[in-house]
Amino acid sequence: MDRFVPDIRPDYREANYDAGKIAPYTLEDPLCFADGTPLKSPDEWPRRRAEILEIFAKEMYGQEPPPPDAFEYELIEEKTGILAGFGIRSQYRIWFRKDKTGPAIDWLLIRPRYTKKKVPVILFLNFHGSHQMLPDPEVVIPEMWTHVTEDHRVSRERGVMNRPDRNSVLPIGQILCAGYAVMSACYCQISPDPCSDDPARRGGQDDFAYTGVFDLWGKREKDRQDDITSLGAWAWALSRGLDLAGRIPEIDASRCVVTGVSRLGKAALLAGARDERFAVCVPIQCGGGGATLAKRDFGENIATEMSTFRHWYCKAYKKYERNPARTLTFDQHLLLAALAPRKLLIGGFNDPWFDTEGEYLACRAASPAWEFLGKPGLPGNGYPENFDIRAIGPYLGYYRRAEEHGMADYDWRRLLKFAGEQEL
Ligand code: GCU
Repeated sequence: MDRFVPDIRPDYREANYDAGKIAPYTLEDPLCFADGTPLKSPDEWPRRRAEILEIFAKEMYGQEPPPPDAFEYELIEEKTGILAGFGIRSQYRIWFRKDKTGPAIDWLLIRPRYTKKKVPVILFLNFHGSHQMLPDPEVVIPEMWTHVTEDHRVSRERGVMNRPDRNSVLPIGQILCAGYAVMSACYCQISPDPCSDDPARRGGQDDFAYTGVFDLWGKREKDRQDDITSLGAWAWALSRGLDLAGRIPEIDASRCVVTGVSRLGKAALLAGARDERFAVCVPIQCGGGGATLAKRDFGENIATEMSTFRHWYCKAYKKYERNPARTLTFDQHLLLAALAPRKLLIGGFNDPWFDTEGEYLACRAASPAWEFLGKPGLPGNGYPENFDIRAIGPYLGYYRRAEEHGMADYDWRRLLKFAGEQEL
C-alpha cells in the first residue's frame, strides 16, 4: 500500500517560481544500493548502475525498448567535396526488419574529407528534418508528420540551421575543423509529438505519439505502468544511429558524442545513461524530466509534464506529481550518475521554467560517482553565473547561459572543448 503523504503545495498543477516554496528534500546517495547498503568498491558499480536504470525504467521513462530483430542499412546517396571541397555528405537509411519493411530512420552524415584517421562522430536528433542542417538541394526532405506546421508537413526550407539568427544552429565548419563528423535524424520519424498545446489533439498522446518505431513493439497495454515512452524511443533511435556509425569505416564510433537540445537533450541524456557505448554525453537545456531535480518542484514539474507531455513518461510517474519532495524515491542526479565515469557535460539555460539551478545541484549530487570510479568530479565553488565555465571538469561539467533557448554556437563551442578537439 502507498503510504499516505499530505500535499505540501495545493496548486501543484501550476509551475512554482518561488524559491521560498521549495519543500525540504533529501537526495538518494548514488553510492548506496536502494536498500541502504553502501558500495564497498568500484566492482559493485555495474550492479548499482543497473539498479538505477531499472528504477528509471519502472518509474519514469518506461522499459527500454528491445534491441531490433535485424539491422539493415543502405547508403542512399553520397557526395564528396561539399563545403568548398572540405566535406563529405552521406545519406543513409536504416531498417529493423530483414526484408526492409516497417519503420525506417534516415540519417544524414557530414564528415571532414581530409583526415589521416577515423573521426569521432557527434550524434543528435533534430526537430525539423535533416535538410535544415545544410543549404544543400540534394538532401532528401523527409515526408513525415510534424506538429509545428499548419499542414503538418515539414517545412521545405533548407539549411535553416546555418542561419546565424536562429536559436538552434549547426556551425558545420567549426565542427568539421575540430575533427568531428556529425550525424543526425529527425525525431518526428521516430515518435512524432502530437500537438500538445491544442486540447483537441491531446488524445494524440495516447495513440498518435506511439506510431513511428513503436510499430516494432506490438500493441500497447492500456494499464501498463512502465510501457515504452517517446523519450525511450528517441533514446533507442540514438543507439541505432550509433550502430550505424559503427558500420561506417571512416568513423570512430568508440568516441561518439551524443547531444541534443530540450526534449531531444532529455533523449540524449537517457541514451547516454542507458547505452555505455556513448563516450561523451552533452544534453543541452533539457530541464524538467531531464537533468534537473524533480524534488525541487521549481518551474516545469511532474504535474505539467504529465499533462502536456505524458507520452514522454510512463504512467507510473504520475503518482509523484502531487508531492515529489516527499514521495519520489529517486531523482535525476541518479540518472546523471549512471553515466559515470564517462564524460558528461550539462548545458543549462537561464529560464526559470528549465530550473537550471536544479540541474547544477543534480550534477553536484552525482559527482561522488565519478570520484568513486577514479575520475575527477564536478569542480568549482557553487552555482556558477551565466557563461562562467569554472564548473566544467574533464569528465563532469556544468555551465549555463542566457539569450535564446536552443543550441547556439556557444554551446557547440563548449561541447567541442569538452569532448576534446582532434587533429585531422
Ligand atoms: C517545453 C517542455 C520542455 C521541453 C521543451 C522543448 O518547454 O516543457 O520540457 O524541453 O518544450 O523540447 O522544446
